[in-house]
Amino acid sequence: MSNLHIRPVRKAVFPVAGLGTRFLPATKVMPKEMLPINDRPLIQHVYEEAVEAGIEEFVFVTGRHKEMLEEHFDFQPELEETLQSRGKTAMLDKVRSSEIPAGRLFLTRQPKPLGLGHAVWCAAKLIGDEPFAVLLPDVLVHGTPGCLKQMVDVYNGTGGNVIAVEDVPRGETFKYGIVDTGGQDADPQLKAMPVQGLVEKPAPEDSPSTLSVIGRYILQPEIFDHLSAFETGAGGEIQLTDAMAKLIGPQAFTAMRFTGQSYDSGSRLGFIQANMAYASQDTEIASDVRRSIIEFANMLKEKDQTNAAAE
Ligand code: UTP
Repeated sequence: MSNLHIRPVRKAVFPVAGLGTRFLPATKVMPKEMLPINDRPLIQHVYEEAVEAGIEEFVFVTGRHKEMLEEHFDFQPELEETLQSRGKTAMLDKVRSSEIPAGRLFLTRQPKPLGLGHAVWCAAKLIGDEPFAVLLPDVLVHGTPGCLKQMVDVYNGTGGNVIAVEDVPRGETFKYGIVDTGGQDADPQLKAMPVQGLVEKPAPEDSPSTLSVIGRYILQPEIFDHLSAFETGAGGEIQLTDAMAKLIGPQAFTAMRFTGQSYDSGSRLGFIQANMAYASQDTEIASDVRRSIIEFANMLKEKDQTNAAAE
């Protein structure tokens, strides 16, 4: 494909209409996407990743009790005035980093959480006929450059659809969407590979590879033709994976091994791991955080040894 035909990725969809059941009761009223990792909510981390990748328009697919998400990105005049009058300029800069400029935030509602594919379909009218990115806010990727920027760089060469993938242990393939690369993934240094198929949660012995889909996508608008069939798949939900599988063949479809560390912050363990990772690299608090983690680990070790000796 000639680069002349590769249209830029200017818009991104953030599906935020899920129920966040794994964090109940914390998410009974507060959206899961507002849970903080270090000093900013999950949704802001992925917003910043999108900005770095050159995204200009941000589409939130929201649902009931999710108004706080749009409020978070709004201008807060009283707060800014107070910080300004107290000379807290560093904090003011931080607050300003959470404002989406006028005319760039778009909202659409998913009336019922019918699945990720359905959530993306709800953004169809706002995306129109151009390629777009999808970022799942509960997956954080700690990397430089960010994961979506790495994907855009690959996309600028391949066009078509690009999804970020990572190697998982073969024994765990049944937990993930897995890509079939026709065996081209054998070299772990290989960054981009054409996708031949997508399988949702295959048994380890049947899995075509150990590359799992992580929640970052660059998709062509034809995906909406397939999503609008509203076919349900695994778990009775309208799955994005099923619609993506239909684009393989008619369109270029590339899997990209990203550089960085991913955290499934939609799970309680991944959320704690992400907090440790981000806080231990935040220059304001890094040394105290690292010392606390080590002290805590030593304390747990001593406890385990005392318990083992008592048995
Ligand atoms: P998840 O399945 O991880 O989120 O979807 P969830 O359903 O909210 O969480 P649990 O499993 O009950 O704890 C990944 C992302 O897709 C959004 C979610 O808000 C989340 O950010 N999503 C999921 C939707 O917007 N609509 C849906 O129908 C499903």
